[in-house]
Amino acid sequence: MSRVLVTGAAGFIGSHLVDRLLEMGHEVTGVDCFTDYYPEGAKRHNLSKALAHKRFHFVEGDLLRLNLESLPTTRAVFPP
Ligand SMILES: NC(=O)c1ccc[n+]([C@@H]2O[C@H](COP(=O)([O-])OP(=O)(O)OC[C@H]3O[C@@H](n4cnc5c(N)ncnc54)[C@H](O)[C@@H]3O)[C@@H](O)[C@H]2O)c1
Repeated sequence: MSRVLVTGAAGFIGSHLVDRLLEMGHEVTGVDCFTDYYPEGAKRHNLSKALAHKRFHFVEGDLLRLNLESLPTTRAVFPP
């Protein structure tokens, strides 16, 4: 098991990736700031399964503004 970080975790690709990584047994941190490209509700729905998972940690924030050092140390970042 590795600890991994997924950016855009609430998006179409990111949320599927999060679910798959959790299925594979990884500890997953997801970051997303809910841009308004499409409704936030749809993105929260994308994440609903992961949010109920004990190995998923969600950080709501903009990657351009977050203090990246506050995020957990990870073995991999997606997308690289
Ligand atoms: N969906 C596809 O078929 C497809 C195909 C090829 C490439 N892509 C590319 O892959 C990427 C993801 O696609 P998608 O369909 O999942 O898009 P999406 O809009 O569903 O997801 C992107 C997510 O990133 C988040 N985000 C954007 N900027 C952020 C920031 N600064 N900080 C934190 N979160 C941020 C958004 O809120 C959103 O939830 C895009 O760059 C897209 O162009 C998508």
